[in-house]
Amino acid sequence: MSKIITGTPVTSGLGKLFNSHGLAKKTVVLFDANTRKLYGDSILKTLDEEGFQWVELTVPAREASKSFNSAYRLYGNMIEADVDRSWNLLAVGGGVVGDLGGYIAASYYRGIPVIQLPTTLLAMTDSSIGGKVAINHPLGKNLIGFFHLPELVLIDPSYLATLPEREIYSGMAEVVKYGFISDRAFLSFIDNHFSDIIALKEPFLTKAVKTSASIKAAVVKKDFRETGGLRATLNFGHTFAHGLEKLAEYRHLRHGEAVTIGMVCALFLSNRLGYLDNGSLEEGLAILGKFRFPRGVIRRRFRDIDNRLLLENMLSDKKKLDKKLRFVLLKNLGEAFLLEESIDDEVVLTAIERAQAFYSALSVKR
Ligand SMILES: NC(=O)c1ccc[n+]([C@@H]2O[C@H](COP(=O)([O-])OP(=O)(O)OC[C@H]3O[C@@H](n4cnc5c(N)ncnc54)[C@H](O)[C@@H]3O)[C@@H](O)[C@H]2O)c1
Repeated sequence: MSKIITGTPVTSGLGKLFNSHGLAKKTVVLFDANTRKLYGDSILKTLDEEGFQWVELTVPAREASKSFNSAYRLYGNMIEADVDRSWNLLAVGGGVVGDLGGYIAASYYRGIPVIQLPTTLLAMTDSSIGGKVAINHPLGKNLIGFFHLPELVLIDPSYLATLPEREIYSGMAEVVKYGFISDRAFLSFIDNHFSDIIALKEPFLTKAVKTSASIKAAVVKKDFRETGGLRATLNFGHTFAHGLEKLAEYRHLRHGEAVTIGMVCALFLSNRLGYLDNGSLEEGLAILGKFRFPRGVIRRRFRDIDNRLLLENMLSDKKKLDKKLRFVLLKNLGEAFLLEESIDDEVVLTAIERAQAFYSALSVKR
């Protein structure tokens, strides 16, 4: 499994760390335009000080960079720079850079090591850990990829200081998710310190990041290829979220925002099917009610949507498989499971309706 290191500055002593993990000090550093501008000079300076040979590459800061075209261009840059199998790749950025960098590392010269240096809350707590790397195809997201575990994951929560608030809430969705699926005490901690974490206050931020990362790593370790149903529980709220993201054309809703709404739906579904009691439902909803969205987003991207249209879009991903939606549900706060049997459409539609009513009531209260 990958070694996860958390600290500030996490890059101090990088040369020694690479040596001790059998990594050559020959590194392709991949940024997106934002992380290059914000952190590029200081990271490259550290690499110089630590005696690294490096090549820097930058892609535009957008989801479209996770494409075959940009991978193809980067392969060319690497070949021209004489990068061979003895090199490795350091991905500095959010999930886009991490997924693209991991994809390139998994395929270049039949595979070179990848080191993840996540700079968004989502990447620190989720996408940089677990080795799923992919690019998108025009027919679907994350369809072309590999399982390629990073040698190292280097997490420095101080990088989050420059992250826009919308991105912080988006990453926070995954943090809360870990509490819901596997750790009741962590969920209470998040509930008690929600605004501290959003405000990036220490020690709350680091505890939230570290606990999330370790829950993800533990799940991945037990069920790497998602064969046992355990890794699937990381998709709590995601069945609804994928439909919402598709309807929002992958542009108007951040992934974490869709997951937040999806978790509200999944709580109602767990309750409706008799797994989650009313008290736990209310407690869960109170936490999810703390999330803020840009003005109009909830109304346009969820409340105004016909629940049948959302269900259709949730299903459209599955058309070529078995047309069966898979739901992760809660038995308790802190205990998730993958429901094997299929559920009546009407039950799913009711859960969506109740979630829409929840957000309508919330907007009246505010
Ligand atoms: N591999 C996995 O297991 C996994 C899991 C979840 C999501 N993902 C993927 O992750 C991607 C989303 O990742 P994301 O939410 O991190 O988005 P992102 O990579 O697009 O980053 C969001 C924005 O924040 C900017 N940014 C990054 N770090 C910053 C910093 N420190 N300060 C200021 N701005 C900064 C980026 O340039 C970008 O504009 C999606 O492509 C999704 O498919 C992968």
